[in-house]
Amino acid sequence: MKRVVAALIATGTLLLYAQTAAHSPLLHATRQAATDLEVGGAIPGVAAGTGQFISYAELLRLPQVTYTVSDDSNFPTPVRISGVTLDQLRRSLGSDADLVVAICEDKYRANYPASYLAAHHPVLVLTVNGKSQEDWPTTHDGGSLGPYVISHASFTPSFKVASHKDEAQIPFQVVRLDFRSESQVFGAIAPHGSFAPGSPVMDGYRIAQQNCYRCHNMGEEGGHMASLPWLVLAALAKGNPEFFANYVRNPQALSRQNKMPGNPGYDEKTIAALRAYFATFAGGDK
Ligand code: HEC
Repeated sequence: MKRVVAALIATGTLLLYAQTAAHSPLLHATRQAATDLEVGGAIPGVAAGTGQFISYAELLRLPQVTYTVSDDSNFPTPVRISGVTLDQLRRSLGSDADLVVAICEDKYRANYPASYLAAHHPVLVLTVNGKSQEDWPTTHDGGSLGPYVISHASFTPSFKVASHKDEAQIPFQVVRLDFRSESQVFGAIAPHGSFAPGSPVMDGYRIAQQNCYRCHNMGEEGGHMASLPWLVLAALAKGNPEFFANYVRNPQALSRQNKMPGNPGYDEKTIAALRAYFATFAGGDK
């Protein structure tokens, strides 16, 4: 009897496994709760351009990691986080994507290329000090961090381009993850023309991928938080280079209302690289 049950369980597991490969049982076609995570992109069973949903409870059933985090500005005091790594989630969904894009409530987007996933193992946080979303600490201005926030065990920059240092991508109010292709998403902002690796244009490209692309868009790609697309920045970089430089370094010096975070540490070489890169998109010199 025992053996029959074991065989049945084994068969059931196999069937479930086969089903996972075809269409992940994690996914639901419609949102059931505010804490459902929407996912899209290269996931078996999810049609292009659409999204499906995973519940908080289902995310908790995936393999979890737990860390004490003390270098994340979303958590001013050390906290114990647990959750699922973005790479684990990608594998659980059966996706072979090499870029994960986290999309926030305000249309900010954090991009996690394969190199970042390998260097930093970002975690989709599910509990903070053992608690679910309603008991999480708030953002610096009293908003909620949830439904999802992304963090790391600890963060050590893995590259430096001019004076831009690899920066922790720690979005909050994350509502959706897209599993994409790096060549498609970063390809959309490849400079116009051909430039050698290490040239100012290519340095600017690398910096813009990690920094500007979170809030500024190129068509459908990139963040739509700023509602100021790439070609507007390009026109400014070329036509009004001084304003461009001042804005990138310290937007609040131009107007206290400006929401864009400044980059006061960017030296001349860094600003020149960004200007050279953006200028490749400005009319006339493709
Ligand atoms: C966190 C979001 C965010 C990031 C990252 C960001 N920006 Fe912005 N940017 C904004 C917002 C929002 C505005 C609109 C004005 C404001 O509130 O500051 C803006 C405005 C600007 C403007 C002024 C445009 C105008 O018409 O006046 C320039 C130039 C600019 N950004 C360039 C950049 C560059 C270059 C980068 C990367 C080095 C960058 N931004 C990164 C959010 C961002």
